[in-house]
Amino acid sequence: MDQKCAIVTGAARGIGLATAKLFLEQGWRVALLDRDAEELAKQDGLAGTLLLPLDIAKPADVDAMVTRTLDWSGRIDALVNNAGVAEFGPIEQTDFQMWRRVMETNLDGVFLCTQAVTPALKATQGSVVNIASISGLRASTLRVAYGTSKAAVIQLTKQHATELGEYGIRVNCVCPGPVRTKLAMAVHTQEIIDAYHDAIPLNRYGSEREIAEVITFLCSDRASYVTGQVVAADGGFESTGVGLPALRR
Ligand SMILES: NC(=O)c1ccc[n+]([C@@H]2O[C@H](COP(=O)([O-])OP(=O)(O)OC[C@H]3O[C@@H](n4cnc5c(N)ncnc54)[C@H](O)[C@@H]3O)[C@@H](O)[C@H]2O)c1
Repeated sequence: MDQKCAIVTGAARGIGLATAKLFLEQGWRVALLDRDAEELAKQDGLAGTLLLPLDIAKPADVDAMVTRTLDWSGRIDALVNNAGVAEFGPIEQTDFQMWRRVMETNLDGVFLCTQAVTPALKATQGSVVNIASISGLRASTLRVAYGTSKAAVIQLTKQHATELGEYGIRVNCVCPGPVRTKLAMAVHTQEIIDAYHDAIPLNRYGSEREIAEVITFLCSDRASYVTGQVVAADGGFESTGVGLPALRR
């Protein structure tokens, strides 16, 4: 089969769904994985897709993801580790269960999926894109679990790029700024939205599509000499240095 195949995790909605749709527009086949089976089923009938109602935090589900995708398409050219959860709270109220809930999806899931897909990616000289966050680049209050999980994903990207490069596998990371998805809107008050607009040079949230454009570029042959990189798609937030509103004109 000549047609390239991508797996996108957390693809039932938000950034993952936008990425899956952009891959389809670019002529790829896509396996959409999500543990929210009901939400995922809404994409039933989307041509060129395989729906995988699975949980990336469960090793047996991750093995099934690879087997079922290979049975369907015969090859895997890209893995987008996008599935993520956000739970925010003060350090003293972050109990171990919450810490583990965040880590098992945001960090363990990325490790498990990349490891399971590696043999198939060796065969295609394929690539991996991990979705971290600006919260992995900068520390903030209330994000002891989320921010730490995303910083770890950035390091995991570099570990994987270093070790898998000799097989021709590229591994990169995208750090989105705020996007109005269900995940973000559950934790962003109007006050937070206004503060983000103030702190971001482009003065706005990003769209799912703008993040998907960066992800699919990194998976494409146009990025064939790019690996181990961390790209912030964040309207300039990360690069602003001293971003005090009082220093603005
Ligand atoms: N929206 C933002 O502002 C923002 C900013 C920075 C980073 N991110 C990151 O982008 C990624 C996508 O986020 P989004 O905003 O589109 O969120 P979203 O909540 O809209 O979508 C995430 C999807 O992942 C799925 N999922 C969660 N845990 C899973 C698991 N263990 N197994 C399988 N599926 C699972 C959910 O069911 C959901 O459909 C996440 O990794 C998130 O941390 C988002």
